Amino acid sequence: MSDQSQLQAQAAEISIDHKTLYPPSPEVVARARIKDRDTLSKFAADHPEQFWAERAEELEWYGKWEKVLDDSNKPFFKWFVGGKFNIVHNALDRHMKTWRKNKVAYIWQGEDFSERQISYADLNREVCRFANVLKSLGVKKGDRVTIYMGRVIELPIAMLACAKIGAVHSVVYGGFSVQALAGRILDSQSKVLVTCDGAYVNGKVVELKQIADDAIKEAPIVEKVVVYKRTGRKIGWVEGRDHWWHDLMKDASPVCETEVMDAEDPLFILYTSGSTGKPKALLHTHGGYAVYTYTTMRYVFDIQDEDRYWCAADPGWITGHSYIVYAPLMNGATSIIYEGGPAHPAPDRWWSIVEQYGVTILYCAPTGIRGLMRFGEEWPKKHDLSSLRLLGSVGEPINPEAWRWYYVHVGGSRCPIMDTWWQTETGGFMITPLPVTPLKPGSATQPFFGIRAEVVDDNGNPTPPGEEGYLTILAPWPGMARTIYGDPDRYVQTYWSRYPGRYFTGDSARVDQDGYFWIIGRVDDVLKVSGYRLGTAEVESALVSHPAVAEAAAIGLPHEVRGNAIYTYVILRAGYEGTPELAEELRQHVGKVMGPIARPEKVEFVAKLPKTRSGKIMRRVLKARAQGLPEGDLTTLEE
Ligand code: PRX
Repeated sequence: MSDQSQLQAQAAEISIDHKTLYPPSPEVVARARIKDRDTLSKFAADHPEQFWAERAEELEWYGKWEKVLDDSNKPFFKWFVGGKFNIVHNALDRHMKTWRKNKVAYIWQGEDFSERQISYADLNREVCRFANVLKSLGVKKGDRVTIYMGRVIELPIAMLACAKIGAVHSVVYGGFSVQALAGRILDSQSKVLVTCDGAYVNGKVVELKQIADDAIKEAPIVEKVVVYKRTGRKIGWVEGRDHWWHDLMKDASPVCETEVMDAEDPLFILYTSGSTGKPKALLHTHGGYAVYTYTTMRYVFDIQDEDRYWCAADPGWITGHSYIVYAPLMNGATSIIYEGGPAHPAPDRWWSIVEQYGVTILYCAPTGIRGLMRFGEEWPKKHDLSSLRLLGSVGEPINPEAWRWYYVHVGGSRCPIMDTWWQTETGGFMITPLPVTPLKPGSATQPFFGIRAEVVDDNGNPTPPGEEGYLTILAPWPGMARTIYGDPDRYVQTYWSRYPGRYFTGDSARVDQDGYFWIIGRVDDVLKVSGYRLGTAEVESALVSHPAVAEAAAIGLPHEVRGNAIYTYVILRAGYEGTPELAEELRQHVGKVMGPIARPEKVEFVAKLPKTRSGKIMRRVLKARAQGLPEGDLTTLEE
């Protein structure tokens, strides 16, 4: 049988009936760090504090903790209380004492095919330099620094430099635009902004500095802007406020002491969407987050020194924070960072990167797979992908068709897919296979060690096997966000009130007869569009900021590649006419204020919106109408 017909035969065998198990191959089992998941799961469930303390011992501490878990002020849990720690000491400093200092930390490829490699020692020097730059700009322990950059190595450098001196980074994804950036700068009260003159994505230049300049007009709290030169294009400049990265770095010392932090000191804030128009700043801390991300990466991706690991996400989202920056560096891994779009200049760009660098672990989002799947399997087939041994998926449920394509055409039917369920709030993987876990396409399988997950009904009772309910977590874990920065009440309200004593994830799920978890999707007004997390309320407020719009509603409708597409309904102010030109203008307006990822698929003009008597828009009704489905219970409707 030829390779190709063998693959086709295997593909045909892959039934997607949600029952078939895909056991790992003997090679995968032989290599796996954890061979017996059940035994360790039981140990971690029976002795969670001991389990986590042992994991923490694998990292270096300046001073040992007094208590593993402090649950005296629920739900504000604390981990490794009294421990003295800095995540950067573990990501960089400790490698300087071993052979790893000469190991490659990052291999970077620009969209224009330029290349860079940086060793741990060089990365450490750059981080020290930039830490000294930040100090010279007046940044002190506890200060927030906003980072708004493209996918360049300087992004992790800026993050690590903040963490090194105890400052709190707030990375804003480079695909966001003026309003989103301004709101996040103001909320975090950042006086320093680090950005680029531009970024290359999909053959175009994203004018990051221009967007930053516009945002600062709305957020004039920013006193200093550091600009990394990536494109060399002409940009606006404010003398005294703006500084080139390379100018500041030239004179900065490559030596800088790492700040000794408390385990519970803040490491970063990261904004994510919720059900109101105001994004939430989830706060993560040095100690627990480090232990959790280090451990999950080690056990799930089974990371080894000889691996070439590539997480194709953006460092500006939690996936990038945890699994491009902190966990890979703490594990001493070699990672790939690719700057640009997956299909630029051709749909085999990702596959060419896998071949070129001999990537062994590839971690990406289902939307990326679905997007590349459209171009056909001839594109991955052009490349030798035999270096791959493990695949990963994150951000949204992976539909069985995409799973199968990924498994067969990318993984050569030999690489297990780690479908990792987690959130900005959880810091790291929560429900996930291990390499040795028998897989079911579309299921994230089982909770990680020490994670007590349960699917419950409205009353908090566990749902019977196969029945949909709300996904909740019963016990704390070290990687959990500690609070919403500046709004602890909202933290309690959003996550800990619906089911007292439990963390409410906002997702619905079901558990099957074998105890496998199947994530269904969000139950709140949060949308996953191309794996990005957006709030319908944010899109609505972007629309309402246009002078023509009186009122707006946004919903998500199923989309083949993006998972969800944003549909919007707009009531115009008097004097405006609902022309196709205006609809297009409104689409562009949302793209301009929020970012291209939030640009609606469609803007429809309506005379009224379905609302409850209390004035809440019934998005469920809009959704049903748009899909031609029954509208359900309308007793509370008052249009
Ligand atoms: O709905 C779930 C979905 O993404 C949400 C979290 O989004 P965010 O905070 O942006 O973090 C994404 C990266 C960790 C979840 O509430 N989600 C994430 N991973 C999966 C998923 N849905 C199904 N399967 C997954 N593997």
